[in-house]
Amino acid sequence: MNKVPDVYLVGAGPGDPELLTVKAQRILRQADVTVYDRLVSPAILELLPTGAKRIYVGKAAGRHHMTQDEINGLLVNLARKGRQVVRLKGGDPFIFGRGSEEAKYLREHGFSFEIIPGITSAAGCSAYAGIPLTHRGLSTGVRIVTGHCQANQPLDLNWASLADPDTTLVIYMGLGHLSEISQKLMAAGLPATTPAAIIENGTQPKQRRCITTLVDITQQAHKLDFRPPSLIVIGRVVTLAGELGCLESDVSNLSLTQGAERLCASASP
Ligand SMILES: C[S@@+](CC[C@H](N)C(=O)[O-])C[C@H]1O[C@@H](n2cnc3c(N)ncnc32)[C@H](O)[C@@H]1O
Repeated sequence: MNKVPDVYLVGAGPGDPELLTVKAQRILRQADVTVYDRLVSPAILELLPTGAKRIYVGKAAGRHHMTQDEINGLLVNLARKGRQVVRLKGGDPFIFGRGSEEAKYLREHGFSFEIIPGITSAAGCSAYAGIPLTHRGLSTGVRIVTGHCQANQPLDLNWASLADPDTTLVIYMGLGHLSEISQKLMAAGLPATTPAAIIENGTQPKQRRCITTLVDITQQAHKLDFRPPSLIVIGRVVTLAGELGCLESDVSNLSLTQGAERLCASASP
């Protein structure tokens, strides 16, 4: 990895600039041109060298500033010009980040790349919300899935396997399909009282967190007007949020102590 690659595919983490890796910070300082996504926080963009070019290619559900093909083409064109290109993505480039598609495209066109991993939002947001993804006695593992699907298509997930009370389920891009997600999980056997959390703008000053249950999560998300980017965490580990979390960002309508007691009671096997 000593040779400088044509393109660095860099994970920016979930938002707090202090969650950037040391390597990512070093690479950002050397960028001639940075191609960045919607989820890269303003605080991280401030770290880019003044005078270096920035190109926004952000995507939001249903609204694409540039298509993926256009982004791939842009990276190749910039690399061809011999510029030091940084492709900066929220979280980790290889987790729902299309980093692997861009890397494949670069390789197919004869350009080199290096991946700089970032803290994915499952790890960063849940930690800042006081939710350990595993905990002895509460969860033996974690599953990370996307709640996003093509327009007008049902979610193509294996609900029977996901409805496992012994593991934690983390759902990216799930806010728009919360009702379907919770109903399908309950229909597959996950108890309605399973603890669940929504974390909006995790790790950032405007972070909000709501602690609730599977049966109430959709109504809470609407009532409290949760918006993307939001992460959904479902499982017994959510009961620890009252003890381990930062209360400032909490908007749950349960008092947290009461809520934790209620959730712990409902989570007991
Ligand atoms: C296209 S995926 C990108 C995931 C990213 N590559 C990662 O590793 O975190 C976007 C989704 O990640 C989640 N997400 C990313 N950053 C977040 C944040 N700061 N707070 C809450 N959710 C976040 C949300 O579910 C959002 O809809």
